Amino acid sequence: MCHTSKVWHIYHLSEKVNMTITKETIVGVIGSGAMGAGIAQVAATAGHSVVLYDNNATALDKAKNNLSSTFAKLEEKGKIKSAQELMGSFSFSGSLDGFANCGLVIEAIVERLDVKKAVFADVEKVVSDTCILASNTSSLSITSIAAACKIPSRVMGLHFFNPAPLMALVEVIPAIQTDATLIPAAKQLMLDWAKTPVIAKDTPGFIVNRVARPFYGEAIRIYEEGFADIATIDWAMTEIGGFKMGPFTLTDYIGHDVNYVVTETVFQSFFYDPRYKPSFSQKRLLEAGWLGRKTGKGFYDYTQGVAMPEPTKDTEKGNIIAERIVAMLINEAVDALHLGVASAADLETAMTKGVNYPKGLLRWCDEWGAAKCLSVLDKLYDEYHEDRYRASVLLRKQAMGNKKFV
Ligand code: NAI
Repeated sequence: MCHTSKVWHIYHLSEKVNMTITKETIVGVIGSGAMGAGIAQVAATAGHSVVLYDNNATALDKAKNNLSSTFAKLEEKGKIKSAQELMGSFSFSGSLDGFANCGLVIEAIVERLDVKKAVFADVEKVVSDTCILASNTSSLSITSIAAACKIPSRVMGLHFFNPAPLMALVEVIPAIQTDATLIPAAKQLMLDWAKTPVIAKDTPGFIVNRVARPFYGEAIRIYEEGFADIATIDWAMTEIGGFKMGPFTLTDYIGHDVNYVVTETVFQSFFYDPRYKPSFSQKRLLEAGWLGRKTGKGFYDYTQGVAMPEPTKDTEKGNIIAERIVAMLINEAVDALHLGVASAADLETAMTKGVNYPKGLLRWCDEWGAAKCLSVLDKLYDEYHEDRYRASVLLRKQAMGNKKFV
């Protein structure tokens, strides 16, 4: 409800919780690393005053310097009016007390449930009862984080993608305790922050980090089985599959510390469903400290002077690789739809905007025909006798009924 022309937005979120967010709402961000600093930049650019907190003074300083130089560059390019003004909307805090006047606090600290729970409980001691609390976690349960809070109904997930200022997608995740009226309000807020929100059920990996698992896992399995080398699999997925980056280039870019941990967490959270099983190849990279581009070595060796391996451009082989991985991805999307993780439209938006897939997986299924996708999976299932390759019952029904998703 809008009362005066001065008020940009007021969302009456719930009579019970009675929280509002306006442009005047001060936004707190916990953690000033890659994600926290990015989210803080987005909130400030949307017109909010922002309090950025980190328990590591060096990290906070680094974020301050980076934000200042990012805003200076954006001003030079004419993308923002005044870097100085935007920097003026920030306060950098070395203690949680800085959050006292915040109406929304978004957490982006280390991906550990015990640490997140402790921080949420501490934040609640500082903020008012009407402050909304959100976590940017990639793979932890929002419900579990909310359970650590005195007012769990105010807690939700707001999952941004890296880099937050550039990636449009935000997954909005209600915990089972979340006040239902918070969700449309959060969705609207994300639209006002020039983001593309989708709503995801609080299940492991939400949408993107669940549905995308086979892109990495199945590629690594094909490599481990010696069917093709990494350069050839990457080539197949970009040239034939149409993806922007191949799985090995992409995981080297994301970092094996991040990508492996998400895989392992999702696997454990799904009660060890073999569909999400991590690989030893990636685990060994992590153990060796070969985290990818950032350490100069991962699946590929980025040392200066070391030549990148050349793919074997065998189209027949490439088709088998791309078809197998895409079929696994489609199956994940179809199963997520079947289990109510998200709507068909949100599934398509999530995979095209969150990980830049060349098209939505449900549309891909329609183009192939569900029967073709099912036959790729059933062939794998017959060959391996592994639950990993079980087709979603919805895919089977679509194939039987010759139906389309979109
Ligand atoms: P990061 O390691 O770059 O930054 C984390 C920051 O949190 C560090 O500056 C650290 O000093 C601070 N921190 C750690 N424990 C703290 C505590 N108890 N109190 C206050 N500050 C604390 O991590 P990143 O990549 O920014 O990730 C943060 C969160 O965002 C994680 O939950 C991660 O799963 C999630 N995420 C990460 C994405 C990525 O691609 N990096 C993408 C989407 C979500």
